[in-house]
Amino acid sequence: MPPYENQPKIQLLQSRHGASEFRMNVLVIGGGGREHAMAWKLAQSDKVQMVYVAPGNGGTALDKRLQNIPLSDVVALREWAQANKIGLTVVGPEGPLAAGVVDEFRAHGLRIFGPTKAAAQLESSKAFSKAFMQRHGIPTAAYEAFTDPVAAHAYVQRMGAPIVVKADGLAAGKGVVVAMSLDEAHSAIDFMLLDNTLGVVHNAGVGGQAVPRVVIEEFLEGEEASFMVMCDGRDVVALATSQDHKRLLDDDQGPNTGGMGAYSPALVVTPQVHARAMREIILPTLKGMEQDGIPYTGFLYAGLMIDPQGQVKTLEFNCRMGDPETQPILMRLKTDFLDVMWAATEAGGLENMELDWDRRTALGVVLAAYGYPGTPRKGDAIVGLPVENESCMVFHAGTEPFDGTTRTSGGRVLCVTALSENPRAARQAAYDAIQGIRFDGMQYRTDIGHRAVKQALEAKPAK
Ligand code: AMP
Ligand code: GLY
Repeated sequence: MPPYENQPKIQLLQSRHGASEFRMNVLVIGGGGREHAMAWKLAQSDKVQMVYVAPGNGGTALDKRLQNIPLSDVVALREWAQANKIGLTVVGPEGPLAAGVVDEFRAHGLRIFGPTKAAAQLESSKAFSKAFMQRHGIPTAAYEAFTDPVAAHAYVQRMGAPIVVKADGLAAGKGVVVAMSLDEAHSAIDFMLLDNTLGVVHNAGVGGQAVPRVVIEEFLEGEEASFMVMCDGRDVVALATSQDHKRLLDDDQGPNTGGMGAYSPALVVTPQVHARAMREIILPTLKGMEQDGIPYTGFLYAGLMIDPQGQVKTLEFNCRMGDPETQPILMRLKTDFLDVMWAATEAGGLENMELDWDRRTALGVVLAAYGYPGTPRKGDAIVGLPVENESCMVFHAGTEPFDGTTRTSGGRVLCVTALSENPRAARQAAYDAIQGIRFDGMQYRTDIGHRAVKQALEAKPAK
């Protein structure tokens, strides 16, 4: 871990009155719902002076404890952080991580939580992460990677459907086609390798040239869950479990999206599944990265597929927290988030960290813009935002301030998140809060949390 020597010495001393004697400025990089939730949680710490969010959104603009900074370039962010005496930086999305923001900040002695550019390849390259998992014996679907469409088509023809075709590069959750027929698989290969209509950021191949590449893998059956941990370079702490809803429409129909809603905890992650995920996936991954000379720090998110026997396979790695999973997860976090993040930026800092979670369920429903996930329309006026409180928050994502109002500016617009006694009550509270919210073309799923509601009912003894 880097020594943070160029930075003013910051000690988090508690006074006799319990209040912090030192308050620091923190920076959250990103502008989605996840970053709104992170900033909101950090701002609750009595050790925080101001939370800056770069670039932020219409929701972070409305909160007096947060301030938006219109920057996204990695070097500009680092210079700004130095000039503004930022004590700690937290990175939300994969883009800045893959662009090396952690390397840049650390090279200048700034404290930042996240993986280096090299470690972020676990997410930014499917080919890298699949080869890594194979090399280190981490359970995942069998696969092959292709740059040549002819070979890819032949492989699909040989393997048959269903089969999964993934673009190798960052695609905001949209570069995966679960093909139920051979026709779908063939056309996915064509649009990923030949047309590139997804706007995937391709990884460089031999000679540094960006080459379209696809990973084609075995179709796995089971129930998915999002399993996230924090790694300080030596120790690891698991966050609360959660489940996302990736498809656009009810009953898991329609195209894949970045996520249309999520809840925490995910009942499918039983204590046995949890132990298995740690033992078979997370710990071997951290050890494997260390062995490969790319030690991992930051959030690590394993997308799990859990089969009916409780066997766990890795669908994907993300080198960040999930969006929208972060919104319900952080609503349940009772530990001071600044303390957690501070500890996580010291090797071994997480050794004795116990995270305290609200035992209730948090559930978030995403309200998306007209045209999402294809070409979302921007500029629609948003009205009827409910009054927020400890048990119901509206986290903004694709929103911006406009003439004293708020309007849409991206695909996933809001995530209405409620905390309540059980999955059914949390779902009811979230959907009740949505009732007053309006913008033209608003789309959302009406069944977020359906599995949890069913599982919670089944878990109850019959009366
Ligand atoms: P990924 O971005 O790799 O997590 O894929 C996005 C979504 O596609 C996942 O959340 C799954 O719903 C689905 N998916 C990905 N890989 C597979 C697979 N091998 N078998 C079945 N479904 C998959
Ligand atoms: N919600 C899925 C993700 O953040 O990748």
